[in-house]
Amino acid sequence: MQNGFIMKGNICYTPGPDNLVIRENAFTVCEDGICRGVFDTIPDRYGGLKVIDCSGMLVIPGLVDLHTHAPQFAFRGSGMDFELLEWLDRVTFPEEMRYADEAYARSAYEIVVARLKQSAVTRVVLFGTIHTSSTLILADLMENSGLISYVGKVNMDRNAPQGLREESASYSAAETRRFVEECISRRYRHTKPIITPRFVISCTDELMRELGRIREEYNLPVQSHLSENPGEVLQVKELETEAAFYGDVYDRAGLFGRGANAVMAHCIYSEPEEVERILENGVWVAHCPESNMNLASGIAPIRRYLEKGIRVGLGTDVAAGTSESMFHAVTDAIKVSKLYWRYVDSDAKPLTFPESFYLATKGGGAFFGKAGSFEDGFDFDAVVLDDRILSFAHPLSVRDRLESAFYQELDQTGIVMKFAAGKQVI
Ligand code: GUN
Ligand code: FE
Repeated sequence: MQNGFIMKGNICYTPGPDNLVIRENAFTVCEDGICRGVFDTIPDRYGGLKVIDCSGMLVIPGLVDLHTHAPQFAFRGSGMDFELLEWLDRVTFPEEMRYADEAYARSAYEIVVARLKQSAVTRVVLFGTIHTSSTLILADLMENSGLISYVGKVNMDRNAPQGLREESASYSAAETRRFVEECISRRYRHTKPIITPRFVISCTDELMRELGRIREEYNLPVQSHLSENPGEVLQVKELETEAAFYGDVYDRAGLFGRGANAVMAHCIYSEPEEVERILENGVWVAHCPESNMNLASGIAPIRRYLEKGIRVGLGTDVAAGTSESMFHAVTDAIKVSKLYWRYVDSDAKPLTFPESFYLATKGGGAFFGKAGSFEDGFDFDAVVLDDRILSFAHPLSVRDRLESAFYQELDQTGIVMKFAAGKQVI
């Protein structure tokens, strides 16, 4: 007995950044959670599988949010009139302190997970807080959601207020080990731990070294922030006089790629050597355009990164970004790239819709392995969109309907089904 199903609809995906494939009234096969490609007619060998008929609808890969903060959903859309460092001190850190209380954490994280479930996202890389037990609650909830995620217990042992500063590097490292061990013993299928130094400002060199050891011992990926905002970059220079550049602090500790997955949010002010190191080490850049506007951080030179062959995905970065909508992230990435082209560098062509769609699917999906496409051998992540609600006066091509669905935020009202690794979530 074959285990799987076939989905029929207008199947849209990007095998490459400038290759948007649209297959109208086509069939995609899910077998044991794996996509077997897209076909015009059902191949005989899959004749026994049931067909889910989404004729007329848009079928896209699940979106991948490469960077967001679960505890910050509680104040999304508020406290926006600050730059990064002031925003952290006045808005973010006070909220994150509340997660010392596990009952609060559970109720707040239930809201986060419910929203992620309803969204177009199938995979997400999450920050928790410094609190191990609360972050485990988040991991449990994510596991039960059917979504696929990396969840990080955050490390902070300096430059943080009392109540959000771990007492020592060794304590922070020991709690990280506890978090990782617990994740292993809970035998999650869809949820994995990720090493999460908040950023250089909040982690001592000793802590970074400890985290590098834990990373290596358990073979874990890493997430952090890098070269986001001018005030932050300046403070890092003052704190880390020995480092060649900001990202060098992570690299010296073994937390910056080199065969291990690492994702760094922002990379707006990365100097040429840092960009080279990102490329050489195979570090992912999580581009979070809305966050970069809200915190007046700036615009990352994504066109340049793509030209160089740097791995890029998109992130929502809640609560510096307003919401979990990756549709927003896709269109915001295009919009800010146009401003960059107009105001900063007329040789940096704006991102096109297919390119941004690619970043949000296969681009970020690569952080998880084979995800974000309907090519043979990829994990079967799919979102079905019914765009009839958008009511056009004349018929649009499927290509145009897809783009319009993103700009018109169809992820708020038009998702009718969602699958992550072959499992139905909506
Ligand atoms: N840098 C360090 N912490 C944070 C955070 O919570 N959000 C963003 N956007 N940048 C950070
Ligand atoms: Fe962030």
